[in-house]
Amino acid sequence: MTDAPSAPHTPLPTDKELVLKVIPMPADCNANGDIFGGWVMAQVDLAGSVLPARHVQGRMATVAVNEFVFKQPVRVGDILSFYSSVARIGRTSVTVEVEVYAERFATQGRYMKVTEARLTYVAIDASGRPRPIPRPADTADGTAITE
Ligand SMILES: CC(C)(COP(=O)(O)OP(=O)(O)OC[C@H]1O[C@@H](n2cnc3c(N)ncnc32)[C@H](O)[C@@H]1OP(=O)(O)O)[C@@H](O)C(=O)NCCC(=O)NCCS
Repeated sequence: MTDAPSAPHTPLPTDKELVLKVIPMPADCNANGDIFGGWVMAQVDLAGSVLPARHVQGRMATVAVNEFVFKQPVRVGDILSFYSSVARIGRTSVTVEVEVYAERFATQGRYMKVTEARLTYVAIDASGRPRPIPRPADTADGTAITE
C-alpha cells in the first residue's frame, strides 16, 4: 500500500534525541501483513535504553513498560525513527519517553507518529540487584553527564 504525497505529516520532536533508525522486514509481519507489535516493542526497549545507559554506566535491566500505545500500524519498508528523552532519574532507575515516527515507503521525508511509550530501567549490580546511579560528582573527571 502507498500513501499519496499529501499524506499526513507530524513535526518531529525538538525536545527529544534521535536514538535509533530501523527498517522492518517481511519476517517481522503479523497475520494482517502489518508489523508485529512485539517486534516494535523490542525496538522501543532497545531505543529506550540508550539515554539511561549514559547515566547508569554499566549493567541495567528494564523493570517496567509503564505505557505503550500503538497509534498507527507499521508497515514493511517504513523507515522508523525513534526519539527519546529522560523523564525522571531516581535513586536506581531512569524513566524515559520514546516516540516512534514512520516515513512511509513512498512518502520519504513525511513523518507519522506510530508509537509512543514510557519505560523504566534499573541500574543493577553483578548480582542483578538495584544499585545507585552514579551522580556527576562520581564520574571519573567530575563532569556532568549530559542528555
Ligand atoms: C529490575 C529489578 C532488579 C528491580 O528489583 P526490585 O527489587 O524490584 O527493585 P526496587 O523495588 O528496589 O525498585 C528499583 C527501582 O525501580 C523502580 N520501579 C520498580 N518497579 C517500577 C515500575 N513498575 N514502574 C516504574 N519504576 C519502577 C523503583 O521505583 C526503583 O527506582 P528508584 O530507586 O529510582 O526510586 C528486578 O525487578 C528484576 O530483576 N526484574 C527483571 C528485569 C528483567 O529481566 N528485565 C527484562 C525483562 S524481559
